[in-house]
Amino acid sequence: MSDIFGLPSNEKVWPVRRYLDLHKESLEDPAGFWDIQARRLLWRKGWTQTLKWDPPFARWFVGGELNASENTLDRHVASWRKNKVAYLWEGESGEKRTVTYQDLFQITNRFASALQRLEVRKGDAVAIYLPLVPEFPAAMLACARIGAPFTVVFSGFSSKSLAERIQDCGAKVVVTADGGFRRGKTLPLKAVVDEALESTPSVRHMIVVRRTGQQVSMKTGRDQWWDDALRKGSSYVEPVPVEASHILYILYTSGTTGKPKGVAHSTGGYLVHALSTQDWVFDPKDDDVYWCTADIGWVTGHTYIVFGPLLHGLTSVMYEGALDYPQPDRWWQIIENYGITVLYTAPTAIRSLMRHGEEYPRDHNLRSLRLLGTVGEPINPAAWYWYFNEIGQGRCPIVDTWWQTETGGIMISPSPKLGLVALKPGSATFPLPGIDAEVVDEKGESLPPGQKGFLVIRKPWPGMFLTLYKDNERYKQVYWSRFPGVYYPGDYALRDQEGYFWLLGRADEVMKVAGHRLGTIEVEDALVSHLSVAEAAVAGRPDPVRGEAIVAFVTLKSSTRPSKELEEELRQHVKKTVGPIAVPDRIYFASLLPKTRSGKIMRRVIKAVASGDDIGDITTLEDGASVEEVKSAIEMLREAERRPKNNR
Ligand code: WTA
Repeated sequence: MSDIFGLPSNEKVWPVRRYLDLHKESLEDPAGFWDIQARRLLWRKGWTQTLKWDPPFARWFVGGELNASENTLDRHVASWRKNKVAYLWEGESGEKRTVTYQDLFQITNRFASALQRLEVRKGDAVAIYLPLVPEFPAAMLACARIGAPFTVVFSGFSSKSLAERIQDCGAKVVVTADGGFRRGKTLPLKAVVDEALESTPSVRHMIVVRRTGQQVSMKTGRDQWWDDALRKGSSYVEPVPVEASHILYILYTSGTTGKPKGVAHSTGGYLVHALSTQDWVFDPKDDDVYWCTADIGWVTGHTYIVFGPLLHGLTSVMYEGALDYPQPDRWWQIIENYGITVLYTAPTAIRSLMRHGEEYPRDHNLRSLRLLGTVGEPINPAAWYWYFNEIGQGRCPIVDTWWQTETGGIMISPSPKLGLVALKPGSATFPLPGIDAEVVDEKGESLPPGQKGFLVIRKPWPGMFLTLYKDNERYKQVYWSRFPGVYYPGDYALRDQEGYFWLLGRADEVMKVAGHRLGTIEVEDALVSHLSVAEAAVAGRPDPVRGEAIVAFVTLKSSTRPSKELEEELRQHVKKTVGPIAVPDRIYFASLLPKTRSGKIMRRVIKAVASGDDIGDITTLEDGASVEEVKSAIEMLREAERRPKNNR
């Protein structure tokens, strides 16, 4: 067994074999295994069947009833944790708020009551578009308390993206704030919602948290301030028990078409997965000061800022602002000030802080840290070592956690709680108990060690999403048709000689830009919706900090000529259509895009050109396209790239 890098010898490191035995045992009877885990939650009614597997639809804990808000709040309020801090909140400008479990319980109840007054009932959807403030988890838990599925939309999405999501789930109420702070500036959140609501007839009410104090217009009869709504609400609302497969939330995520996918998560299975993985991966201690740096707008925030930590009664830090604002040592200052013990973040953040140099972390006392985590994309060894040596000071294991919006919680990761295996920088090591992962070839056959293939999950797990909201067909087609009978996440992977899993990035048209998941087609759709654009092809280009940067090749309508102004206009157009996170890093004007004979853009070629990779053999191009035509299109793309200011 190889040693864990630099960890002191008293750290419990298991032989890989022992972990694998434990894992194997869990897979002998996965339903039985998960049945035991589920008993740690508070159920109002027991289940009669642990798993009903009607492929590809899994229903866990059939017949069981519970409430997510009761499990995360009422249990603690009835215990010694009543006055324990749930969130230590820090605003970007340095203001602080301390929210105990009792505080969170009160806010949640009052808001649940406010929602009831607005006639939100079990099954009605509520949309949430908020900056990172303590009201955010309270709003989610209030919805859960009355059985209203919520959908959180990341505040970096445009009004059009927000409207699309609201239309899809038919939300009756939207919760937002007047604005949010980012790098000392304010974002006009309420104004974005106002615009979205022009095309969302389902919405009857908007509740507005006062955060920045900026000027907003309140529409009489529709809009009200959060504080007013809370004042009118009563201090206790009986939690509504819901069936285990009742939708807790819908979270929209990017896929390979322009339309975002509404990933619908259950209540029972999801909570079991959140509870178990928080435990196995982060080995929670009652005196932990835990910090997951994600935004709640993404799944990582849902599971590991809200549900996982609250189920365990943990104290979390929640920081509102940018990671290097006002100085590049902001995070290290936070770790020192609060005595953070567990830090869970993304490789893109590590790389971005690494760029500023080690003098910033070295200036701070980081000795409180005991465990580090990463999520969202593969971590490159240089970033891994920097994180390990400079931040963990060689003492803290790194849990590299692989999972997705669809999986609900962590799937592949080291497990300090169950026995840490020797770590290898860049490998997420092994699947967690109850998770049956494998790497297969094009035909779905298991691959021998060292060969790159596709990751699959062979058996359902409790955090598995129920379906794509109102679109069972797309659910079947996207995830279950590539390899019949097994779940296809869309990632490349390989296993090494010792069986370790190495996740190697997306095998489809999904990009990871600074940790944000975006479909190339979403950006293309936005570009072609501009009057001047004829066609657009978008790809991710490897970027040393953000993982991938968005590169767009655009052909213009014959009446339009490329210009610097047009490039800027297209950027603004994408910003307005999808949101700031989708704005291309580079837009190249091309006269031709490489296509198959049937007119489909050759994505492989676009990606290779954007990444500066070898195009490979184009004589075997699909669909019998003309090799000459494709060659000349590639040449033109390359030429467009070479023009430094492409529009002059
Ligand atoms: C990628 C984020 C390598 C992967 C929780 C996956 C990772 C996608 C890792 C899901 C990791 C996530 N190593 N790749 N540790 N974690 N990914 O839905 O490609 O935003 O399919 O969920 O992120 O992104 P999502």
